[in-house]
Amino acid sequence: MSGIESILKETRSFPPSDDFRQKAVIPGMEAYNALCDQANGQYLSFWGDMARELLSWKKPFSRVLDESAAPFFKWFDDGQLNVSYNCIDRHLAQNANKIALIFEADDGAVTRVTYAELHRRVCQFANGLKSLGIKKGDRVVIYMPMVIEAIVAMQACARIGAIHSVVFGGFSAGALRDRVQDAGARLLITANEGLRGGKGVPLKATTDEAIALGGCDTVEHVVVYRRTDSEPAWDANRDVWWHQLVEKQPEQCEPEWMNAEDPLFILYTSGSTGKPKGIQHSTAGYLLGAINSFRWVFDYRPNDVFWCTADVGWITGHTYVCYGPLGNGATQVIFEGVPTYPDATRFWRMIERHKVSLFYTAPTAIRSLIKLGADAPKQFDLSSLRVLGTVGEPINPEAWMWYYEVVGGGRCPIVDTWWQTETGSAMIAPLPGAVPTKPGSCTLPLPGVMADIVDESGAPVEAGKGGFLVIKKPFPSLVRTIWGDPERFKKTYFPEEFDGKFYLAGDSAHRDENGYFWIMGRIDDVLNVSGHRLGTMEIESALVANPLVAEAAVVGKPHEIKGEAVVAFVVLKGPRPQGDEARKVADNLKQWVAHEIGKIAQPDEIRFGENLPKTRSGKIMRRLLRSLARGEEIVQDVSTLENPQILQQLQESA
Ligand code: PRX
Repeated sequence: MSGIESILKETRSFPPSDDFRQKAVIPGMEAYNALCDQANGQYLSFWGDMARELLSWKKPFSRVLDESAAPFFKWFDDGQLNVSYNCIDRHLAQNANKIALIFEADDGAVTRVTYAELHRRVCQFANGLKSLGIKKGDRVVIYMPMVIEAIVAMQACARIGAIHSVVFGGFSAGALRDRVQDAGARLLITANEGLRGGKGVPLKATTDEAIALGGCDTVEHVVVYRRTDSEPAWDANRDVWWHQLVEKQPEQCEPEWMNAEDPLFILYTSGSTGKPKGIQHSTAGYLLGAINSFRWVFDYRPNDVFWCTADVGWITGHTYVCYGPLGNGATQVIFEGVPTYPDATRFWRMIERHKVSLFYTAPTAIRSLIKLGADAPKQFDLSSLRVLGTVGEPINPEAWMWYYEVVGGGRCPIVDTWWQTETGSAMIAPLPGAVPTKPGSCTLPLPGVMADIVDESGAPVEAGKGGFLVIKKPFPSLVRTIWGDPERFKKTYFPEEFDGKFYLAGDSAHRDENGYFWIMGRIDDVLNVSGHRLGTMEIESALVANPLVAEAAVVGKPHEIKGEAVVAFVVLKGPRPQGDEARKVADNLKQWVAHEIGKIAQPDEIRFGENLPKTRSGKIMRRLLRSLARGEEIVQDVSTLENPQILQQLQESA
């Protein structure tokens, strides 16, 4: 890890105000330390008590953790419960008329849904799913815009024990097909169109295209929610309108009582090699992580209005839109559109309009909004804000300070939350009434999270030294397996290098003299573009699938707004293009990738060479490509390089 010495030195520290601390869920460092001591001393009863206190069980569990098949851990496994019951039904006695969702559409129209109304809609849709033959354990792929119905669909699956797999609406037909196929989905739920920034997104057409690609034979029906007036192509044997499906369904639906370890959902995420991994989460452990971390990290109180800007297609939209807030009976804003439409003040306008008190977004969004109007937040009354959160990638101290001062008025703790699709809920983050924050650090682990930084031998590294971020004990919301590939799960996350004992997060990090964690980036080839993980492999495969392309290698380089930008080095089957010709081919290939995977994966830059830098054994030397992409001088050892002259060519092609 010698290459990842930290260069960042940040000494500013921001403790919570006395007033904030006194009213907080975890009021001060003493309370935080007491919880950590409790977790360290009595790990199992710490989590067991929490699971009894925060979840409603149909049948109580008698055992907290079963480690006999490690790393396939089981939590609370003889207990029974239902996630949708926990997120909706149990609030009805006290809070039936409390607002659960404040939906702001792309055009600004607002719809409010109470817990009672949400219950009715979820039950009716769940009954609709049953009428299509969907039952416990069936997989349902949800390919929806960010609308109320996306959450209804997820909750309805949870209610009847179907395993949902949400695919982000920005993904292409090919990416959708791969996920449908891997999950073996019986049902697809989509909308005729989505609406983002005033434009239609043809979700149904893309769904049709995905199915036409073949390999989706398991899909029996496609349920289509009508979001706009556009008329999609229709297969009367397969397609069903959402509104017709729910029309005459009863308004009650008894929840399916699930075993604690039954899968709740699969969510695909990129790995460094091969196809996306179907991250499989459990029912009880996942829900406990979502509910508990929500109240701790956001210091949730019943009058709060929470807004997480993530789409339900990502893990953040699962844990901090669909499950965490509803599990706590919170009121939350959900937003269909984009932060820049009709203009770049949309977020600030919405915070003022809905009196948002807890706001959670990505560093990319913060950086792009600074650029579009650093003073814009000052035009709005943002005094309702209490806590500001970030997630998805490291936040640079400048953006952190702007968020703190200009958006939060110097009043609101910033919770920089480190976690992953695999961890299911926030792992390292300040508890805002306790832990003083430092710009750029995700601070300290939540009580009960045994995070550490180790070297290749598994030994903890000293303060200031970079190493592998690991978690040393199983915890409830951790990924249970990779769907259909338990071997890959073991190899990836509990590798033999550490005797299979630690969960390897795949990030490098260091700790400062106060024990604070600073995330330094991924240790594999995975890129982090706008807070979303992209496997280089997937982008390379897409490029090579183009008839012009012989070979491709993709690396990341730092990007002011997106965190990382995608740079592709491409060898064509024909001669190496130059000048205008190179620009034309590059543009075509960029569009090709956008079509094959989705716009998010589109390379920012494409460079052409007659070959790629390779070792004698034929391995592409990515570290050299990374230096080239960053415009750095090549100082690495190139003696194992078969074709050193290629470096100059690739350098010149910039
Ligand atoms: O590299 C870390 C980065 O995002 C990765 C996880 O990506 P994903 O599974 O898509 O989940 C994103 C939302 C939870 C991590 O391995 N990451 C996430 N949060 C942070 C972060 N890097 C630095 N600081 C964070 N707060």
